Amino acid sequence: MRAAAKMFTVTPLSLDVLTEPVDHVSRKAGENGCNGSTLHDNGNTGFDFSILREVRPRRSDSEERSLSDFAASPRLGRPLETVRSSDCLEGLLNSPSMRSTLDTPRSERFPSFEPHPMFAEAWELLRKSLVNFRGRPVGTIAASDHAEEALNYDQVFVRDFVPSALAFLMNNEPEIVKNFLLKALRLQSNWEKRIDNFTLGKGAMPASFKVLHDPLHNKEKIMADFGESAIGRVAPVDSGFWWIILLRAYTKCTGDQTLAEMPDCQRGIRLVLSLCLSEGFDTFPTLLCADGCCMIDRRMGIYGYPIEIQALFYMALRCAKLMLKPEGDGKELLERVEKRLQALNYHIRSYFWLDFQQLNNVYRYKTEEYSHTAVNKFNVIPDSIPDWVFDFMPMKGGYFIGNVSPARMDFRWFCLGNCVAILSSLATHEQEMGIMDLLEERWPDLIGEMPLKIAYPALEGHEWRIVTGCDPKNTRWSYHNGGSWPVLIWLFTAACIKTGRPHMARKAIELLESRLSNDHWPEYYDGTSGRYIGKQARKYQTWSIAGYLVAKMMLEDPSHLGMISIEDDRKTKSLNIPRSASSMF
Ligand code: GLC
Repeated sequence: MRAAAKMFTVTPLSLDVLTEPVDHVSRKAGENGCNGSTLHDNGNTGFDFSILREVRPRRSDSEERSLSDFAASPRLGRPLETVRSSDCLEGLLNSPSMRSTLDTPRSERFPSFEPHPMFAEAWELLRKSLVNFRGRPVGTIAASDHAEEALNYDQVFVRDFVPSALAFLMNNEPEIVKNFLLKALRLQSNWEKRIDNFTLGKGAMPASFKVLHDPLHNKEKIMADFGESAIGRVAPVDSGFWWIILLRAYTKCTGDQTLAEMPDCQRGIRLVLSLCLSEGFDTFPTLLCADGCCMIDRRMGIYGYPIEIQALFYMALRCAKLMLKPEGDGKELLERVEKRLQALNYHIRSYFWLDFQQLNNVYRYKTEEYSHTAVNKFNVIPDSIPDWVFDFMPMKGGYFIGNVSPARMDFRWFCLGNCVAILSSLATHEQEMGIMDLLEERWPDLIGEMPLKIAYPALEGHEWRIVTGCDPKNTRWSYHNGGSWPVLIWLFTAACIKTGRPHMARKAIELLESRLSNDHWPEYYDGTSGRYIGKQARKYQTWSIAGYLVAKMMLEDPSHLGMISIEDDRKTKSLNIPRSASSMF
């Protein structure tokens, strides 16, 4: 990053010359819980957790004011605030939608919460990772490993902050999240995003930002990175989506709809949408991306239409639909969102899904088919199916593959995309069950000794050389190339709860608890079963810490799931059209 500053023209705007955005967001807005919210996803979601939110006492104004003071000194002990599951249980059991997930014995499902000693340690570490800007916490640092060179790990990453934010929301500390959302919003609109002579789209959100202290003038500035300093110089496509998803989580959790309704936030949503809904030469509804534009932020052969981005895109569109006001051009935008959701839904459910039956179909595909009657629409040559997939595919279960484009199916498993497909209800009910079945059937490969594999399997030998460009950090079974990432536990746990399989999450969390703290919370583990601490893994990686906390709190109180999960919306249910006839609509 430092070397890069010489090569690239970046124009950081000092935020101290910018006026603060309207801070008129009512502190009292949350008093109504979600009931007064116009974010009426309850109609669409099976999980109506809004009533449950009311059991949480709201902070008084004075309490809220003192929150930032407290958060600024994370070392101060704070009693762990967790709402006991018994407070919520009754409402939860009475919710018709929840019954389907409640078919295991009650004591098994909601054991009383005896925090593991790691839980308190994780909270302490999470508080230590807070980054302040002018006395207010605005995010968490990526890693606090003083033994390694910081590179950009001393920054606040948008995607990394998501589990931190969820932990704070679940602990009834929404102020930090609000500060972060507003800060990211201001970076989106007030920053000139330029690499050499080329300017990025207005809606782009930063991958990360850093607070710089100027002791001479006693001032603080924020430096953001939209990809112009990142290794590989890729803009993060996922940041804007995570921002929208987090804004909805904040609103859902606090009932404070005034934040999402602020003109600045509405504009922020519209800017992100206009970036990804713009018309071009695309023949697919999926979003065309450069390699390394998401959690996997180095070359790993995920260019094209990576499932991680498609699932986040879908989730963000669904969240935006709940928050965008129909005023002005909002109505037209909402119509475009709806159309895209339907097209995405059909495309991904049909073409990205792979199970035993579908693998057999692809194996027997005819090639060189022309016109609308083609079954093998993308002309995938069966010889391109890698050997491993025939053994990997269980009779029961399936998953969304990594990528689909002309003559190319990337058969690799990617954890984040599949979990988000469950949470956003991009997957049908049967597909959700299929993904969980696969995880159960292939536990040694996908969870192994340390949850969870980011991607499976690893690229090796010649393929590794060609696809990664000989990346020494992404050697086989390491880092993004088949490494195991503890942070993924929160997404996995959420998917387990949504599909009624909390026992799977519990088993995975036990694995984490056996090592994570002793190993000093590494960023990732290496090896086929994730047994070894990652070669270049940072220690005290914040999202490993926060991911654990979120998973624990969600298991303790499954109503938290409502923040990051949306039930199927009947309108976007896939139309039952034969694969060969979809060009007709
Ligand atoms: C690595 C990860 C990326 C993460 C960053 C900061 O580059 O690949 O997803 O955001 O570290 O933790």
